[in-house]
Amino acid sequence: MAVIAVFNQKGGVGKTTTALNVCAGLALLKSDPLAIDLDPQGHLTLAFGVKSVAAKHSVYAFFDQNLPLSEVMQHMPSGRRLIAATLELSKVDALHGGNPQIAMRLKEGLRSGFGDSKAPVIIDCCPMLSVLTLNALIAADRVLIPVSADYLSLQGVDRLDRALNVLETKFGRKIPRRVVVTRFDARRKLSFTIYDELKSRYGASLCATRIVENVCLAESPMHGQDIYAFAPSSPGARDYRALIQELGSCGFFN
Ligand SMILES: Nc1ncnc2c1ncn2[C@@H]1O[C@H](COP(=O)(O)OP(=O)(O)O)[C@@H](O)[C@H]1O
Ligand SMILES: [Mg+2]
Repeated sequence: MAVIAVFNQKGGVGKTTTALNVCAGLALLKSDPLAIDLDPQGHLTLAFGVKSVAAKHSVYAFFDQNLPLSEVMQHMPSGRRLIAATLELSKVDALHGGNPQIAMRLKEGLRSGFGDSKAPVIIDCCPMLSVLTLNALIAADRVLIPVSADYLSLQGVDRLDRALNVLETKFGRKIPRRVVVTRFDARRKLSFTIYDELKSRYGASLCATRIVENVCLAESPMHGQDIYAFAPSSPGARDYRALIQELGSCGFFN
């Protein structure tokens, strides 16, 4: 079981879009992935086509009432499994932030419920360093960092690196990172400038695959669909397929 946290503390960079389409692409490869929505906004849940879910059937119940993860997991069509989020999740920090063990909860829940499974787990993080994000990063074997090809997103990577470095020192281990550029627009010079800057910063940790700006990627969640179901021949589907192939070939999902 490889646990992958899709993380960037900046919002709007493509975390949820990446979590959705990496998970769906892995399902098409029959690897039975589990997606965990750890963002109280519940965007991944919505993008999975789940319009309403009671808090007691969501990841909130796992944190708040110690329900096993398997009890709040939903089986979705096409082999995906989802642990959904609801707005109540935003209370976890206030209610349980003082508990020194809370940050380990997801790691332990995954180990006890899915420790024998080989299926990858994809966690969609919220855009801040909260108790929820700490849970994701402590549980994670690897971190996938989407960075959108715009100036402000590039400015955020300094902060992101600092935060991850501090956490790694605290955890006493390195979490392998891969960075992927999203919303790449080949008509804009800025996109290439940003890709080159990230390349000099991250070297081989920067994915060669770039996810283009593609309206189908923005539209598919509205229909509760992933990009392969919604627009299989779109540039977005092509790029996410390539990303999975690139990451898979270096064992990222194992
Ligand atoms: N490659 C892309 N092309 C076009 N729109 C995109 C792309 N990636 C993300 N989006 C859109 O940008 C917005 C933010 O993306 P999202 O994945 O929700 O980011 P985050 O989870 O980091 O906040 C959403 O409306 C999403 O549909
Ligand atoms: Mg999101």
